[in-house]
Amino acid sequence: GIVVSSLLKETGLVTVDPGFMNTASCESSITYIDGDQGILRYRGYPIDQLAEGSSFLEVAYLLIYGELPSPSELEGFVTRVNRHTQVHEDFRTLMGTFPRSGHPMAGLASAINGLSMFYPESLDPHDDEQVDLATVLLLAKTRTITSYLHRRRVGEPLLFPDYSHGYVEDFLRMTFASPYEKYEVDPVVVDAMEKLLILHADHEQNCSTSTVRVVGSSNANLYASVAAGVNALSGPSHGGANEAVLDMLEKIRSGGETVASFMDKVKTKQDGVRLMGFGHRVYKSYDPRAAIVKKHADAVLSKLDAKDELLDIARGLEEIALSDDYFIERKLYPNVDFYTGLIYKAMGFEPAMFTPLFALGRMPGWIAQWREMMKDPQTKISRPRQVYTGATEREFLPVSLR
Ligand code: ACO
Repeated sequence: GIVVSSLLKETGLVTVDPGFMNTASCESSITYIDGDQGILRYRGYPIDQLAEGSSFLEVAYLLIYGELPSPSELEGFVTRVNRHTQVHEDFRTLMGTFPRSGHPMAGLASAINGLSMFYPESLDPHDDEQVDLATVLLLAKTRTITSYLHRRRVGEPLLFPDYSHGYVEDFLRMTFASPYEKYEVDPVVVDAMEKLLILHADHEQNCSTSTVRVVGSSNANLYASVAAGVNALSGPSHGGANEAVLDMLEKIRSGGETVASFMDKVKTKQDGVRLMGFGHRVYKSYDPRAAIVKKHADAVLSKLDAKDELLDIARGLEEIALSDDYFIERKLYPNVDFYTGLIYKAMGFEPAMFTPLFALGRMPGWIAQWREMMKDPQTKISRPRQVYTGATEREFLPVSLR
């Protein structure tokens, strides 16, 4: 492929590849996916081992710096992130101007974009110290912003971060604690959230990550690039699918529709209905992340005493899909979004918060990919070509003569 494309370039020809089905935009040493075998590794480490044995910040360090941290490196990193978790009062005021009922993904993208106005000392993409500062600021503040988006939605006062808790634990406390009572964070919930964030932490050149790289290729700062990634993630064909799955399950339940009749609609493509949470551009077998989420969904829901009939509907849909020719022929399997919403719901999040949680998890991946691109001597400004299909030359007529 590489040889052919360089020959094409020399002869002035271009390839048309809608959706970049066959185009690699970069070389990367961060994440490996084998879509046929359902393999996912971060920096060579299998995803199931990381989900089982590490913490989210440990994985963030691995993705960003390339190696698992030693105990002292991890402690230093966690301390740096903790030190920056509080947001400026003016920033709280900024967030206070967002309509409470507005979608939190729009709030998250606006808030992250806004960070660049508050931290001008961290904007130079080619200054290692500034990039390191922007890195910890983003990991720290996205957590605080995400919990504030939830609090604003439900109309509760914003809580200050408390450094004596872990990253995930304090995120849950800031999100759900009452300001008047001591909040006991359930370790089962902390563990489940830690795993979900790890599973979302990177996924090579997906739509939002490619967006982050495209924006960064113009030497835009890290906040501007990542805010663009948040917007790309919001679409229901990408990160927005986790919210769309729950919406679909609720509609099946409340619409009095059977699982089988819904599946008929999907298979006949009635009104463009798709089985949300199914299918993937790269995975042509079971998404390994979905397998881990599915394994934990049952345990988490029963430990939280949150048995949900939506889980039964989801299981019913999957059961039909896995033995149905429509799905088998097209190699459509559950993706990471199929079961995550049910766990988030059991934790107490509303569906609108599901995609911001995806963004919180994806933050280390976006940062790592942007940093890799900035250091790559092959990087050029992203500027695809096109095949023009419009009118040939036409003569202009002034408006009075048209
Ligand atoms: N339900 C029903 N049919 C589907 C689905 C689905 N979820 N996904 C794909 N198909 C069908 C298409 O209709 C098409 O059928 P055809 O060959 O008869 O025309 C065929 O499978 C191939 O689909 P494409 O849309 O060409 O595949 P693509 O790789 O472009 O899209 C995508 C991948 C966007 C993920 C798609 O599978 C989809 O829309 N899934 C539902 C949304 C979703 O869950 N997104 C989350 C993705 S994972 C993530 O971002 C974290």
